[in-house]
Amino acid sequence: MRDRRKPPAASKFRLARRARGGTLFAVPRVKIGVVGAGQVGATTAQRLAERELGDVVLADILEGVPQGKALDLAESAPVQRYDVRLSGTNDYRPFEGASVVILTAGLPRKPGMSRDDLLKKNAEIVTGVVEKIHPLAPDAFWIVVSNPLDVMTFLVRHRTRLPRSRVVGMAGVLDSARFRSFLAQAAGVSVRDVQAMVLGGHGDDMVPLVRYATIAGIPVSEWLAADKIEQMVARTRGGGAEIVSLLKTGSAFYAPSAAAVEMAEAVVRDQKRVLPCCAFLEGEYGLRDVCVGVPVVLGAKGMERVVDLNLSDAERKALHASASHVREGISALALA
Ligand code: APR
Repeated sequence: MRDRRKPPAASKFRLARRARGGTLFAVPRVKIGVVGAGQVGATTAQRLAERELGDVVLADILEGVPQGKALDLAESAPVQRYDVRLSGTNDYRPFEGASVVILTAGLPRKPGMSRDDLLKKNAEIVTGVVEKIHPLAPDAFWIVVSNPLDVMTFLVRHRTRLPRSRVVGMAGVLDSARFRSFLAQAAGVSVRDVQAMVLGGHGDDMVPLVRYATIAGIPVSEWLAADKIEQMVARTRGGGAEIVSLLKTGSAFYAPSAAAVEMAEAVVRDQKRVLPCCAFLEGEYGLRDVCVGVPVVLGAKGMERVVDLNLSDAERKALHASASHVREGISALALA
């Protein structure tokens, strides 16, 4: 019989020989912290658990809400057949050692309210959260979802002073998913065959890249008339507002949570996905010291690189205009 005190020669696990009855193997577990147990946060926690990306800690200021939602999700596990630990908290101690933090805390947009109206209030919330979590999870990869997205991503990086590879914002995956779903509907084809990317800030001046949009590898212009594509571009730009006006008491959460979880999965599973994310730019696209949506490679090291695409003059102009709008928001925060 094998001596059970010795690890198998090829074991990748470190033997943690603690007291008798203690842990034999230190099996690494991924911990993902989700801040905000509202619509986006709770749905994100659900999707993370269903994909078994790691143990999930859900936090909110509302007493009982994160605990209740985490318990409800844990009780779904036997039926949904996921096997991860879920917990809820009103303080951040359980975030200690988290590998990924997904930040959804904040106020959602109400009808008639622009994303920028949210700026000051959400900046206060985000700053408070970052100051508490960063010391407990100094190596975490941050995915920012709180709006106004690009400014909040800049703020998280500014407050944590983390390398830019560790802080990205979720918007491009969501905006691109909207664009792809509208193109698929218009062309009458499966969403699976539609590839498209939206760059720029997560606002009305986002930049859907029509030139790079394809259906089964064939340029979208071969499938749809120019005016139809323009309608889809306009619908994408107004995609968030369209949902707000329908829901009346909140903003989108299914697609935003799906997008955030796709980004988390790329990092946790080291997938090297090429996804449009809000990134801090250091000269790419002729932009510097601003966070804006561009294609990046996401893997185990976080944002492993920015993909510097060739843009036409018009696309580049539109990206710069969008970045200027983000800069206005950053200036309004008057960061020291
Ligand atoms: N710490 C933790 N949680 C907080 C804090 C805080 N300081 N302040 C607010 N929250 C929580 C709220 O209690 C609420 O449960 O954030 C949660 C936000 O949830 P919702 O109001 O349901 O908003 P949601 O639709 O999830 O949107 C969250 O994502 O898409 C963006 O614009 C959206 O910024 C908004 C964020």
